[in-house]
Formats: sequence, C-alpha cells, structure tokens
Amino acid sequence: MRLVRLTVHVLAEVPERVLAALERDFELVPGPEGAAGLVAIPGIPVDAALLDTAGPELRIVANYAVGLDNVDLDAARERGIVVTNTPDVLTRATAEHALALLLALVRRVAEGDRLIRARKPWRLGPTFMLGHGLEGRTLGVVGAGRIGRELGRLAEALGMRVVLAGRGDPLDEVLAADVVSLHCPFTSETRHLIREETLARMRSDAVLVNTSRGPVVDEDALVRALRAGSIAGAALDVFENEPAVHPGLLELDNVVLTPHLGSATAEAREAMGMLCVEALRAVLLEGRTPPNAV
Ligand code: GLV
Repeated sequence: MRLVRLTVHVLAEVPERVLAALERDFELVPGPEGAAGLVAIPGIPVDAALLDTAGPELRIVANYAVGLDNVDLDAARERGIVVTNTPDVLTRATAEHALALLLALVRRVAEGDRLIRARKPWRLGPTFMLGHGLEGRTLGVVGAGRIGRELGRLAEALGMRVVLAGRGDPLDEVLAADVVSLHCPFTSETRHLIREETLARMRSDAVLVNTSRGPVVDEDALVRALRAGSIAGAALDVFENEPAVHPGLLELDNVVLTPHLGSATAEAREAMGMLCVEALRAVLLEGRTPPNAV
C-alpha cells in the first residue's frame, strides 16, 4: 500500500459523487505545482506553461469534456503526459441539447417567454407568433461523429431527412439543408468553417445550430447574415470568445442562446467525471493506458 497518496489538481468544481471518488484515491491539491494528475475543463487552456508549472510529476491530464481544443496535445506528448477525454457518455445529452435549441428557435420558445415576461399584451390568434415545423425538413449535420449521428437519429424520429457531411454527403448539400447543425471538433481546419462565404451558400429560410465550439463560426459574419436576412435564425450554445457573446447576437429575436450547456445533464456530467476518475486511476495507480486516452 502507498503511504503517500498521489496528488491531483482539479480545475473546476465537480459533482459530489465524482469528488468523493477522487478523494478516495488521491490527495486533491489547490494548485498544479507538483501534481501527478490534472482534471481540466474547456475554457481553461492546458498549455505548455501550465504543464511546466505542474512539473515532471505530471503524468495525466483528464479532460472533463469530449472536445480537446483546450489542451495542447503536442506539448503533452513531448512531456510524456497521457491525455484523456470523455466520449460516449455525453453523446445523447449533447444531441438532445442541439434539438432543444432547434425546437426553441423554430417554435419561438425563448422569444415567447421574453414577450410574456415583458408583460406585453398578447392574445392567441391564427397568425400570432407563427413558427415552423420540422417534419419533412432536411437536417444537415457538419461533423458526422457520435453526437452528429445521434442528432440525426433523433431528427429522423421527428420525420426529418438527414444529410451528414463527413460521411459522404458533400458540404454543399449539407449547407443547403433547412437546418445546419455543427458537430465537428474545433481545429485549425474548422476555424471559421461557417463564415461569409459558407453562410451565403445557406438558404434564406434556413437556421444554424452550434453546440460544437464557438470559433467554428465567424460571429461577425453570422451577425451580418442574420441582420441581412440571408439566413433565418441561429441557436447557439458556444461562442467565439466565450464566455463573451457578440453584442449583435443579443439584439436579435431570431437567435436563441444558451451558456455552453451541451452536456449539462446531472447524469452526463457525473458519468464524465467518473470517466476522468477511472483514467486517473488507470494511469497513476495501475500504470496502464485507459481506453479513452487520445
Ligand atoms: C464540452 O464542451 C465537451 O467538449 O465535452
């Protein structure tokens, strides 16, 4: 039995059960210095400087997310540090959130809520606050990974036709869909994938949904397209300069915004945390590489 427990630094508050599991096996420390493990989250860069602050004891960065754009993977590799993520357990939660955003947008849920809270007079009527249905519409998925394909399955249950870029369907066909939903990772190739030129290839009655990463969309170009009516609306869970939100988006009623809640169900977040704990145990206590190492 180990006399001195290995130390882990956690960059964010975690659910109680996850905290208890971490505390069972590790000593949690308030800073990265000398830690053997780090639990990271999106929005806090794990770069060479942070890895060097942690020092040579650091053997694993367990990212509490499926996206890894916050971690400098090259810097970790150079230092022999294992990096893990949390795939699968958040797939349904994130696909459901994309669908929730889409329904909120096309059925004007947030707009209606704002109207009522503003105490404005209203009355049911045949032409009052009409939205659009999804049955028979086409969903274009950019990034045909686990989450994009899961959203495709949910959308098919609603009677939508699904086209998947990254799975054979050309990007042009996906951009021509009624709904374009982004599910690609953020890399140098996908930065501003949605920009003036790609927005111009969307239909004027189409909507954009983004639950991937903010910088996949050029927000200036998106605001211009929404103002000009060259697309009909946007539902966004992630932002280019998160947590800041482009002021132009805040002024538009055909935009629905949520604060990066894609995987934010109690169930998914607990399962993600337990995957992090298992990865830390595998690397630090059992000397093996966990299956979710990248
Ligand atoms: C959250 O954004 C994730 O990548 O899991």
